[in-house]
Amino acid sequence: MAKKTKQTKVLPIYILNGPNLNLLGHREPEVYGYTTLAEIEAMCARQAKSHGLSIVFRQSNREGEIVDHLQEARTGGSAVIINPAGYGHTSIAILDSIQALKIPVIEVHLSNIHKREPFRNHSYVSKGATGIVMGLGAQGYLRAVDAVAEVLSSKSRSK
Ligand code: DQA
Repeated sequence: MAKKTKQTKVLPIYILNGPNLNLLGHREPEVYGYTTLAEIEAMCARQAKSHGLSIVFRQSNREGEIVDHLQEARTGGSAVIINPAGYGHTSIAILDSIQALKIPVIEVHLSNIHKREPFRNHSYVSKGATGIVMGLGAQGYLRAVDAVAEVLSSKSRSK
């Protein structure tokens, strides 16, 4: 009889998106590109699957709701990928929620915030992030999924 190996289920990656990202593809496409958020979700799901991982994908225009999603990821997620959008530049509450996590956090921005208006050059989220991907458009989300896969597998190797 085949020997049963104990498979430990890896929790999903929480991919969280802040305000106005529901308008991707239509909002300032010269800055943010033509890919919609639904397309990004499908691309991320495929990329995660290629690493044997799954995703929970959320978008909210409300700061408190993003805090709720981060708290959910504390117990329900293996990692967080977050594009905090405009809240990255303003929200200490979102930083606090990130700092309460014990899992890897990758911050994503479609645009390179350092090349833009001075008020976009600072991100509170960066202080709590394991790593940051910016300026690569929708592809940046895929690179963030790759980064999570790498961090999780090196974590499990060192156990
Ligand atoms: C953004 C950059 C932010 O400055 C902006 O408020 C966004 C999107 C990006 O993905 O490039 O909404 O996070």
